[in-house]
Amino acid sequence: MSTSLTWYGHAALGLQIDRIFLLVDPFFIQAPEAPLKPDYILITHGHADHLGDTLNLAQSSGATCIANYEICSWLSAKGLKTHAMHIGGSHQFPFGKLKLTMAAHGSQLPDGSYGGPATGFLLTTPQGQRLYLAGDTGLFGDMRLIGEEGLDLAVLPIGDNYTMGPQDALRAVRLLQSPLNIPIHYNSYELIRQDPYAWKQSVEAETGFAVQVLQAGESLLLPDKTNRD
Ligand code: NI
Ligand code: MN
Repeated sequence: MSTSLTWYGHAALGLQIDRIFLLVDPFFIQAPEAPLKPDYILITHGHADHLGDTLNLAQSSGATCIANYEICSWLSAKGLKTHAMHIGGSHQFPFGKLKLTMAAHGSQLPDGSYGGPATGFLLTTPQGQRLYLAGDTGLFGDMRLIGEEGLDLAVLPIGDNYTMGPQDALRAVRLLQSPLNIPIHYNSYELIRQDPYAWKQSVEAETGFAVQVLQAGESLLLPDKTNRD
Protein backbone atom coordinates (compact mmCIF):
# COMPACT_ATOMS: atom_id res chain seq x y z
CA MET A 1 0.00 0.00 0.00
CA SER A 2 1.65 3.19 -1.12
CA THR A 3 1.06 6.46 -2.88
CA SER A 4 3.53 8.14 -5.17
CA LEU A 5 3.25 11.36 -7.10
CA THR A 6 5.13 12.08 -10.32
CA TRP A 7 5.49 15.50 -11.92
CA TYR A 8 5.87 15.30 -15.70
CA GLY A 9 6.51 19.02 -16.13
CA HIS A 10 4.09 21.96 -16.50
CA ALA A 11 0.86 20.83 -14.76
CA ALA A 12 0.88 17.11 -15.58
CA LEU A 13 0.90 14.77 -12.60
CA GLY A 14 0.72 11.03 -12.11
CA LEU A 15 -0.59 9.45 -8.94
CA GLN A 16 0.00 5.79 -8.27
CA ILE A 17 -2.33 4.79 -5.45
CA ASP A 18 -1.90 1.09 -4.74
CA ARG A 19 -2.65 -0.50 -8.11
CA ILE A 20 -4.57 2.43 -9.53
CA PHE A 21 -2.85 4.97 -11.76
CA LEU A 22 -4.29 8.46 -12.16
CA LEU A 23 -3.15 11.13 -14.57
CA VAL A 24 -3.95 14.74 -13.84
CA ASP A 25 -3.92 17.37 -16.62
CA PRO A 26 -2.03 15.15 -19.10
CA PHE A 27 -0.32 17.77 -21.25
CA PHE A 28 3.30 16.79 -21.90
CA ILE A 29 6.01 19.25 -22.91
CA GLN A 30 8.26 16.19 -23.31
CA ALA A 31 6.77 12.76 -23.97
CA PRO A 32 7.06 10.50 -20.91
CA GLU A 33 9.72 7.77 -21.12
CA ALA A 34 7.24 4.89 -21.10
CA PRO A 35 3.68 4.94 -22.47
CA LEU A 36 1.21 5.81 -19.72
CA LYS A 37 -1.81 3.62 -19.03
CA PRO A 38 -4.08 5.55 -16.70
CA ASP A 39 -7.14 4.08 -14.99
CA TYR A 40 -8.49 7.59 -14.45
CA ILE A 41 -7.74 10.98 -15.99
CA LEU A 42 -8.52 14.04 -13.88
CA ILE A 43 -8.88 17.35 -15.70
CA THR A 44 -8.88 20.65 -13.81
CA HIS A 45 -10.10 22.81 -16.72
CA GLY A 46 -10.45 22.98 -20.47
CA HIS A 47 -7.30 24.88 -21.49
CA ALA A 48 -5.13 22.97 -23.94
CA ASP A 49 -2.14 22.89 -21.58
CA HIS A 50 -4.27 20.81 -19.16
CA LEU A 51 -6.69 18.84 -21.33
CA GLY A 52 -3.58 17.89 -23.28
CA ASP A 53 -3.59 14.31 -24.60
CA THR A 54 -6.76 13.35 -22.73
CA LEU A 55 -8.63 12.21 -25.87
CA ASN A 56 -5.89 9.87 -27.11
CA LEU A 57 -4.93 8.58 -23.68
CA ALA A 58 -8.52 7.90 -22.62
CA GLN A 59 -9.27 6.18 -25.92
CA SER A 60 -6.21 3.94 -25.80
CA SER A 61 -6.43 3.08 -22.10
CA GLY A 62 -10.19 3.06 -21.55
CA ALA A 63 -9.63 5.38 -18.59
CA THR A 64 -12.53 7.16 -16.92
CA CYS A 65 -12.23 10.95 -17.18
CA ILE A 66 -13.17 12.94 -14.10
CA ALA A 67 -13.87 16.66 -14.37
CA ASN A 68 -16.69 19.16 -14.03
CA TYR A 69 -20.02 18.51 -15.76
CA GLU A 70 -19.28 20.75 -18.76
CA ILE A 71 -15.95 19.12 -19.63
CA CYS A 72 -17.40 15.63 -19.07
CA SER A 73 -20.30 16.41 -21.44
CA TRP A 74 -17.77 17.47 -24.09
CA LEU A 75 -15.65 14.33 -23.54
CA SER A 76 -18.58 11.90 -23.45
CA ALA A 77 -19.89 13.35 -26.74
CA LYS A 78 -16.56 12.14 -28.15
CA GLY A 79 -17.25 8.65 -26.84
CA LEU A 80 -15.12 8.73 -23.70
CA LYS A 81 -16.01 7.26 -20.32
CA THR A 82 -16.63 10.06 -17.82
CA HIS A 83 -17.59 10.72 -14.23
CA ALA A 84 -18.92 14.26 -13.95
CA MET A 85 -18.72 16.13 -10.67
CA HIS A 86 -18.99 19.73 -9.60
CA ILE A 87 -17.49 22.21 -7.19
CA GLY A 88 -18.01 21.28 -3.55
CA GLY A 89 -19.09 17.74 -4.39
CA SER A 90 -17.19 14.65 -3.26
CA HIS A 91 -17.30 11.06 -4.41
CA GLN A 92 -15.70 7.91 -3.04
CA PHE A 93 -13.66 6.29 -5.82
CA PRO A 94 -11.53 3.12 -5.53
CA PHE A 95 -8.47 5.44 -5.28
CA GLY A 96 -9.90 7.58 -2.49
CA LYS A 97 -12.38 10.33 -1.79
CA LEU A 98 -12.21 13.11 -4.34
CA LYS A 99 -13.72 16.57 -3.96
CA LEU A 100 -13.86 19.23 -6.65
CA THR A 101 -12.67 22.58 -5.36
CA MET A 102 -13.08 26.05 -6.78
CA ALA A 103 -10.32 27.73 -8.75
CA ALA A 104 -10.12 31.36 -9.84
CA HIS A 105 -9.45 30.80 -13.56
CA GLY A 106 -11.14 30.32 -16.97
CA SER A 107 -11.88 27.09 -18.81
CA GLN A 108 -12.40 27.37 -22.56
CA LEU A 109 -12.09 24.06 -24.42
CA PRO A 110 -9.83 23.81 -27.51
CA ASP A 111 -12.75 24.17 -29.97
CA GLY A 112 -14.02 27.28 -28.18
CA SER A 113 -16.75 25.45 -26.22
CA TYR A 114 -17.47 26.53 -22.67
CA GLY A 115 -15.68 24.31 -20.17
CA GLY A 116 -17.57 25.50 -17.09
CA PRO A 117 -15.69 26.90 -14.11
CA ALA A 118 -12.08 25.86 -13.56
CA THR A 119 -11.52 23.53 -10.62
CA GLY A 120 -8.96 22.01 -8.34
CA PHE A 121 -9.01 18.62 -6.61
CA LEU A 122 -8.86 17.59 -2.97
CA LEU A 123 -8.05 13.90 -2.67
CA THR A 124 -8.01 11.74 0.45
CA THR A 125 -6.31 8.45 -0.36
CA PRO A 126 -7.17 5.10 1.25
CA GLN A 127 -3.90 5.53 3.21
CA GLY A 128 -5.23 8.75 4.71
CA GLN A 129 -3.00 11.18 2.83
CA ARG A 130 -4.80 14.39 1.88
CA LEU A 131 -3.59 16.10 -1.28
CA TYR A 132 -4.70 19.44 -2.67
CA LEU A 133 -4.08 19.94 -6.37
CA ALA A 134 -4.92 23.60 -6.94
CA GLY A 135 -5.06 23.55 -10.75
CA ASP A 136 -4.61 26.89 -12.50
CA THR A 137 -5.79 29.53 -10.08
CA GLY A 138 -5.25 32.94 -8.64
CA LEU A 139 -5.06 33.33 -4.87
CA PHE A 140 -8.47 33.15 -3.18
CA GLY A 141 -9.35 33.50 0.51
CA ASP A 142 -11.32 30.26 0.67
CA MET A 143 -8.05 28.34 0.39
CA ARG A 144 -8.24 28.72 4.17
CA LEU A 145 -11.34 26.46 4.16
CA ILE A 146 -9.46 23.87 2.11
CA GLY A 147 -6.58 24.10 4.59
CA GLU A 148 -9.00 23.45 7.46
CA GLU A 149 -9.45 19.92 6.10
CA GLY A 150 -5.86 19.15 7.17
CA LEU A 151 -3.56 18.77 4.21
CA ASP A 152 -0.45 16.63 3.83
CA LEU A 153 0.56 18.02 0.46
CA ALA A 154 -0.36 20.94 -1.79
CA VAL A 155 0.56 21.26 -5.47
CA LEU A 156 0.48 24.91 -6.45
CA PRO A 157 1.09 26.95 -9.60
CA ILE A 158 3.77 29.62 -9.20
CA GLY A 159 4.32 30.76 -12.80
CA ASP A 160 2.48 34.11 -12.64
CA ASN A 161 0.78 35.77 -15.65
CA TYR A 162 -1.94 33.04 -15.98
CA THR A 163 -1.99 31.90 -12.34
CA MET A 164 -0.64 32.86 -8.95
CA GLY A 165 2.92 34.09 -9.03
CA PRO A 166 5.47 33.27 -6.33
CA GLN A 167 4.28 35.93 -3.87
CA ASP A 168 0.62 34.96 -3.98
CA ALA A 169 1.57 31.27 -3.95
CA LEU A 170 3.44 31.95 -0.70
CA ARG A 171 0.25 33.53 0.70
CA ALA A 172 -1.61 30.42 -0.50
CA VAL A 173 0.73 28.22 1.57
CA ARG A 174 -0.14 30.32 4.63
CA LEU A 175 -3.88 29.85 4.02
CA LEU A 176 -3.55 26.15 3.23
CA GLN A 177 -1.16 25.34 6.13
CA SER A 178 0.17 22.45 4.12
CA PRO A 179 3.33 20.91 5.59
CA LEU A 180 4.67 20.07 2.12
CA ASN A 181 4.24 22.09 -1.07
CA ILE A 182 5.22 21.39 -4.65
CA PRO A 183 5.47 24.18 -7.24
CA ILE A 184 4.23 23.55 -10.79
CA HIS A 185 3.13 25.56 -13.87
CA TYR A 186 6.42 27.44 -14.29
CA ASN A 187 9.34 27.50 -16.76
CA SER A 188 7.39 25.69 -19.48
CA TYR A 189 7.25 28.99 -21.39
CA GLU A 190 9.19 32.25 -21.22
CA LEU A 191 6.08 34.04 -19.92
CA ILE A 192 5.99 31.90 -16.78
CA ARG A 193 9.70 31.79 -16.02
CA GLN A 194 10.33 31.54 -12.26
CA ASP A 195 13.03 30.36 -9.87
CA PRO A 196 11.46 27.53 -7.84
CA TYR A 197 14.45 27.43 -5.47
CA ALA A 198 14.01 31.11 -4.61
CA TRP A 199 10.35 30.36 -3.95
CA LYS A 200 11.29 27.40 -1.74
CA GLN A 201 13.65 29.57 0.26
CA SER A 202 11.12 32.35 0.88
CA VAL A 203 8.23 29.98 1.66
CA GLU A 204 10.30 27.98 4.13
CA ALA A 205 11.72 31.13 5.77
CA GLU A 206 8.41 33.01 5.98
CA THR A 207 5.88 30.25 6.66
CA GLY A 208 7.85 27.40 8.23
CA PHE A 209 6.26 24.95 5.78
CA ALA A 210 8.38 22.85 3.45
CA VAL A 211 8.71 23.06 -0.33
CA GLN A 212 10.00 20.26 -2.51
CA VAL A 213 11.13 21.20 -6.01
CA LEU A 214 10.71 18.23 -8.35
CA GLN A 215 12.48 17.77 -11.68
CA ALA A 216 10.26 16.82 -14.60
CA GLY A 217 9.79 13.06 -14.42
CA GLU A 218 10.70 12.88 -10.73
CA SER A 219 8.50 11.02 -8.25
CA LEU A 220 7.80 11.52 -4.58
CA LEU A 221 6.70 8.71 -2.27
CA LEU A 222 4.10 9.86 0.24
CA PRO A 223 4.27 8.36 3.72
CA ASP A 224 1.33 6.15 4.65
CA LYS A 225 -0.77 7.70 7.43
CA THR A 226 -2.96 4.74 8.35
CA ASN A 227 -0.26 3.28 10.63
CA ARG A 228 0.01 6.45 12.71
CA ASP A 229 -2.05 7.13 15.79
NI1 NI B 1 -5.39 27.49 -17.68
MN1 MN C 1 -2.38 26.42 -17.56
